[in-house]
Formats: sequence, C-alpha cells, structure tokens
Amino acid sequence: MKVDVLLGLQWGDEGKGKVVDVLTPRYDVIARFQGGPNAGHTLEFEGQKYVLRSIPSGIFQGDKLNVIGGGVVLDPALFKAEAEALEASGHPLRERLHISRKAHLILPTHRLLDAANEAAKGKSKVGTTGKGIGPAYTDKVSRNGLRVGDLEGDFDTLYRQACERHLAMLRGLMTETDFAQAQEKLAQTEKEWFDGVDYLRTFTFVDGEHEINRLLKEGKSVLCEGAQGTMLDIDYGSYPFVTSSNTVCAGACTGLGVAPSRIGRVYGIIKAYCTRVGGGPFPTELMDETGDKLCAIGHEFGAVTGRRRRCGWIDLVALRYAIMVNGVTDLIMMKSDVLDTFETIKACVAYEIDGKETELFPYSINEGVKPVYAELPGWQTSLSKMTSEDEFPEEFNNYLSFLEEELEVPIRIVSVGPDREQTIERYVEDGLTENV
Ligand code: GDP
Ligand code: IMO
Ligand code: MG
Repeated sequence: MKVDVLLGLQWGDEGKGKVVDVLTPRYDVIARFQGGPNAGHTLEFEGQKYVLRSIPSGIFQGDKLNVIGGGVVLDPALFKAEAEALEASGHPLRERLHISRKAHLILPTHRLLDAANEAAKGKSKVGTTGKGIGPAYTDKVSRNGLRVGDLEGDFDTLYRQACERHLAMLRGLMTETDFAQAQEKLAQTEKEWFDGVDYLRTFTFVDGEHEINRLLKEGKSVLCEGAQGTMLDIDYGSYPFVTSSNTVCAGACTGLGVAPSRIGRVYGIIKAYCTRVGGGPFPTELMDETGDKLCAIGHEFGAVTGRRRRCGWIDLVALRYAIMVNGVTDLIMMKSDVLDTFETIKACVAYEIDGKETELFPYSINEGVKPVYAELPGWQTSLSKMTSEDEFPEEFNNYLSFLEEELEVPIRIVSVGPDREQTIERYVEDGLTENV
C-alpha cells in the first residue's frame, strides 16, 4: 500500500517527465494528479524524443497502468493530437490509459477566456500558456465545470449552456470587433474539439479514486506525477504569477482521492540552476551573458509554447520553502551537465530585504528582494558520459554536498543529460524504494 509523489520544486520544467520514465519500472501505476496541457514533459530514449502534455510519463515502460486523475483538466482536441501521435509512433496506449470521470474538460471558450483575461491584465499579465487552464479551473471552483463523466450523458445541452455563459463573459471583456473575431475563432475550433470528444469517448473512463484505492488494497504501488512546480502552486507559489492548481504534494491527495496517510516518498525535482517561463518575480534571474549561456547550453525553450525560459542561479531560499510545504524526502537533481563549463557556480543562500538578511521565504518576492550568494568553484569537466558517481569530479561532489547540507535532504539521483540512460543513482545501498 504505497503512494509516492514526484513533483517540481521550482517554476516547472525541472525534468519531471524524464524522472517519471526512469522510475516507472519500480511502480505498478503512474498517475497525473493536476494541471493539464500547460505541461510539457520531455522524455528521451533510443534516440527518440517525446513531449507529453496530458498523458502520464509512464506510458512508455511496459504494461504499467497510467491514470489521468480527477484533479487534471483535459482538452479533448489536444488529447487526441497527443494520443494519436503516440499511437502512430508505435506506442499503444488504449489498454494502458484510464481517465477519471472527475477530470474537468477544457472547452474552446476557456481558451478564448484565457486570452481575454490576459489581454485585460495588460502589463501585469501572467504569461499563461494560453491553454485555458485558469478559466477551466475557475469553472470547477465556481461549480460550473463540465467533467469527463458528463460525456456519458446529455453532453450537448451542458456544452451549449456553458458556451453561452462563456460568450456572455467574453462580451464583457472585449470590443465588438474582438468579440466578433472570437466568435469566428470559436466556430473554427469547435469541430476539432468535438472530434476530440468523440475520440476521447473511445477510451476507458473510470472512477479514479475507487480504482487507485482498490489497486492499493491489492498491494500495488502508485507513482503520482506532478505538473508545473511548487513556485507555481495556486496557494503557495508566487501568487498571482502562478498556475490555477495545487502543484504541491497535497494536490496528489485531492487530485487522485488518496488519503494523506498513504503517501510515502516525496521526490523533489530540481534543476542544478533555475528557470522560469512567463511573468512574475524571479530573484536569482540573470539578465546578462551568464543567463544567456545557461539558456543556450540548457536549451531553455518551452516544450509547449517555445518561449525562451528565463534563467538564473539555484535559489535555496525558495527550495527550502518548497521542501517544507511538500515534505520532500528525496531530491533529484537534473541538468547538472549544463553547468559543466562554468568557472564559478553561485547559489542563493539568503535574501536581503530592506537591508536585512533572511533565509525564510517571504510573503512576496518583489523587486526589493536581493539574492545573497555563496560561490563555489565549477568542475569544468563533462559529466554527460559518466555512469557512476565514482567518476564525479571533486568540485561536483562538493556542489552536491553543499546543497545537501543547505537543504537537509539527500540528492538521490543526479541527471547528466536528457537521455533515460544519463541518470546516476546515489546512496544505492539504502535502496531507493522498497519495491525496487
Ligand atoms: P518537465 O516539464 O519537468 O518534464 O521538464 P521539460 O521536459 O519541460 O524540460 C526539461 C528539459 O531538459 C527537456 O528538454 C529534457 O529533455 C531536458 N533534460 C532533462 N534532464 C536533463 C539533463 O540532465 N541534462 C540536460 N542537458 N537536459 C536534460
Ligand atoms: P511543466 O509541467 C513551466 C506557467 C506559465 C505561466 C503560469 C500560468 O512542463 O513543468 P497557465 O497556462 O498554467 O495558466 O500559466 O504557469 N506554466 C509553466 N511553466 N512549466 C510548466 O509545466 C508550466 N505550466 C504553466 O508559463 O507563467
Ligand atoms: Mg515542461
């Protein structure tokens, strides 16, 4: 009876998809618990690269059951495109994928509302992925949402009612001309969306909470796959520059219907540095050549929107906070190889706010927050072909020890490249999980 949770501790894109794929052989079930097609989880193996948005990253490894949980928001048109591409590339998923009836649907009008809300915010826009995430979750919370389970009933009536409500909202947000354009866009996208609905109906819908708890009772193990990152959490992230779901560990309980007492390990995924895409504060952001270098070497461009990711040094103040709210038991450090050529590596150990230093993450991180850095010598050696920690250069080991001391959590896995194989486990003698 065990449920482990894997989630991002920064602003997303930490490399969650790769780690879920690596850990999948150790579990029976992989379940996405929140978010939607705003996520872009990249996996690389056997020379192929895949980007998953709504489908769990356990889909490639054997006959594991993959579940899209009730906390997820699903766009049928994007789901169809993603699933068809997987099937076309020789990866069958029908048998391996179950979808919770409680997952909410993203309607075409949610995408229009997302764009209109952003436009209305002007300069203070969030910089969303434009996938309708905020409006879909807004409908859920205001008790107006449509769910996957509704596709089994008189869906057309429910859809029309929701659509009318959304159009009335859009009319209030837009000029006459823009509204006419939005209606035109809706007419164009609706057909594709309903094709997606028909396709989605061919998959197995389940009462996810019953299914997962039954499997747990049978002794099966579950890995919960988070999307986005802790600093994008609706409650504990850098509000209002956040996504609209609970990306923290507690979101796995609400998103899948599992009790908190079932949670075992909590894997916190971090990059060896830090990135953020979209608007909002980022205390360690580098607006200089070093930032450009991190972006270039790390290929820091969004998997979903192609946007350039903002880059900076690792932020231990934010990470300590993320570890606290999630109860992280194991850290997994990604993209270590990206720092291979840096002479000096910096890590933010405290914030200076109004002339005072603090190690506690504050209520808000505005421009008044200045990072205080520790500097460490770089290893200036390529890590990407290494296969065991015995090969690690001393400076890299020092960086790992420094982070472990500061964060008080062991770094169990180090990733040295995007491929599945470029993954090095540490503390192997402890056994990462009981069911290895
Ligand atoms: P996710 O959203 O957390 O799954 O992360 P993304 O897939 O959006 O972004 C992570 C990017 O880094 C992807 O392009 C991965 O292929 C790549 N990646 C993952 N681990 C490593 C690594 O250790 N080194 C390098 N160089 N790239 C990595
Ligand atoms: P993965 O799972 C990075 C960001 C957007 C924006 C904010 C709100 O791949 O790590 P939304 O469309 O969710 O309303 O946008 O959240 N964002 C992400 N940033 N990785 C993601 O997912 C993200 N999903 C949303 O850029 O700032
Ligand atoms: Mg991503």
